[in-house]
Amino acid sequence: MCGIVGYTGYRQAQPVLVKGLYTLEYRGYDSAGIAVETPEGLRVVKTKGRMKTLDEKISAAGGLAGTCGIGHTRWATHGAPSDLNAHPHLSQDGRFAVVHNGIIENYLELRQELQKDGFHFKSETDTETVAHLFQKLYCGDMVKTLAAVIKRLRGGYALGVLSTGNPGEIVCARRDNPLIVGFGEGENMIASDIPAILPITRRYAVPDDQEIVHVTPQGIRFYSLDGQEITHEPLTADWDVASAEKGGYAHFMLKEIFEQPRAVRDTVASRIKDGLPALDEYGLTDELFQNVRNIHVVACGSALHAGLVGKTVIEKLARVPVSAQVASEFRYSDPIIGPGDLCIIISQSGETADTLAALREAKKRGARTVAVCNVVSSSAAREADGVLYTWAGPEIAVATTKAYSAQLAALYLIAVRAALARGTMDEASARAFCAEILALPGKIESMLETRDEMDRLAKLYCDRSDTFFIGRGIDYAAAQEASLKLKEISYVHSEAYAGGELKHGTISLIEQGTLVVALATDPALYEKIISNIQSVKARGASVVLVTNGDYQSGGDVCDHVVHLPGCPAELTASLSIVPLQLLAYFIGVHRGCDIDKPRNLAKSVTVE
Ligand code: G6P
Repeated sequence: MCGIVGYTGYRQAQPVLVKGLYTLEYRGYDSAGIAVETPEGLRVVKTKGRMKTLDEKISAAGGLAGTCGIGHTRWATHGAPSDLNAHPHLSQDGRFAVVHNGIIENYLELRQELQKDGFHFKSETDTETVAHLFQKLYCGDMVKTLAAVIKRLRGGYALGVLSTGNPGEIVCARRDNPLIVGFGEGENMIASDIPAILPITRRYAVPDDQEIVHVTPQGIRFYSLDGQEITHEPLTADWDVASAEKGGYAHFMLKEIFEQPRAVRDTVASRIKDGLPALDEYGLTDELFQNVRNIHVVACGSALHAGLVGKTVIEKLARVPVSAQVASEFRYSDPIIGPGDLCIIISQSGETADTLAALREAKKRGARTVAVCNVVSSSAAREADGVLYTWAGPEIAVATTKAYSAQLAALYLIAVRAALARGTMDEASARAFCAEILALPGKIESMLETRDEMDRLAKLYCDRSDTFFIGRGIDYAAAQEASLKLKEISYVHSEAYAGGELKHGTISLIEQGTLVVALATDPALYEKIISNIQSVKARGASVVLVTNGDYQSGGDVCDHVVHLPGCPAELTASLSIVPLQLLAYFIGVHRGCDIDKPRNLAKSVTVE
């Protein structure tokens, strides 16, 4: 979703802004632009399309000279992707430039008010109202004006504002949308995410909601809405520039698939102490698990799919009822949750709007909340009662892979700790299970060796227009993630079904050549899924089977088999997903898709 970057210092701002925006491309966008304070006033170059087009347009304009500026990648919400709707937006008098991420919910009301005051709008965006409102309320002081502006706004935002009359100054603020500030030496930055500031600094702070931040080359100051100064101790990003670069891989997605053994190892190794999960410091105490009534796992997208696997594993090991719910549904469902319940929020970014709203709803109703998330100091991490970080490192590709795998690993730890606390697993079994969790990175490594085979299968099947993924139990949860990966990056229509549901409708869609990917990793369910496979094969489907069973390809069961190494039934989702991520990746590649930035998708969905 939209990316914001701002720079003020001694260097030329334009290259810093452009480079920063390139690093934020992963967030998903359809237009981009920058504004720089030049000797002739604010100059803006913006365009529909990709950063490359913006780069070309800036060169055609002869570059923008100046040491202070803001930039933006836009993911359209109000008004189609177009040059006019792209940010930055200027106030009518051209003295203020604004970039914005989020949605101003009362923008129509504000727009009408401003139109009555004689302001003319050039775009259809909600953001332009902020630029004109800033001009209208300007009192000669950027901080005070931004405070006055945000008092008039409803909705969520991260805002950056630049002006002609205040050289070298940027003001910014956020509410429910990500924004960080980076501390340099004689230069400072604002950005939506850490990778954009790494070329200048690793020291950063996350302003709280509705704080006003005043950024100049000399320093960064934080103020409350009523003007009180606030201090923030800088944090240090342990990400390095290389981790936000492709490192020789053709795409971030492929690099991140190959980083999964490390992501899982980093997530579990330091949390298994003396052979058992130690989770007290994350708010996951034995007392909590002993008394918990229900566990609610709430998330969106792939994080929800991780939650579905987690639900099965926690229920199986700890015998406590667990629901896994879509955050956007949970928040409006008048959920039955309260004191005595645990709500586990899963989110790579920690900034997904629906997930944050669900977290707040659960808190409001008295449940204990724990966030499983990947971004340090993200909103979810800051707001939940406890946080269990996944140490996947920066994930850049829109389609998540390593963060999903790290989420699974974190959930396994929770399941074992809950089972120990509730007495449904003895210590010896828990130790043996933890040893299996620690063995997962090595086994994921062996699954990465399917790369060439998956490339070969992708070439065979990349022209198929429909794909079905089937599985039962944990395999059904994994099938949903595999199916999402394929549709996200290859645009092939794909659906996941519980094997037993096939005959209740979907089987009518199976015809000669339809691709069916079946997952069969639970020996207790092998025969059931093999019957499902036979029924689709009888109707002409091509079948890829992912299994730890003793099946060979070419028989009447399936056309291709991907074998998994042995591991407990509860952990197979960590292995079966790897070849299917690779299959989705190579199908996307062979179809010529934009792998790391799929159309219409955003990495972090910060609006509802
Ligand atoms: C978007 C991304 C998905 C992600 C989902 C939830 O849709 O494209 O990959 O799973 O948001 O994001 P979160 O940051 O909350 O895990």
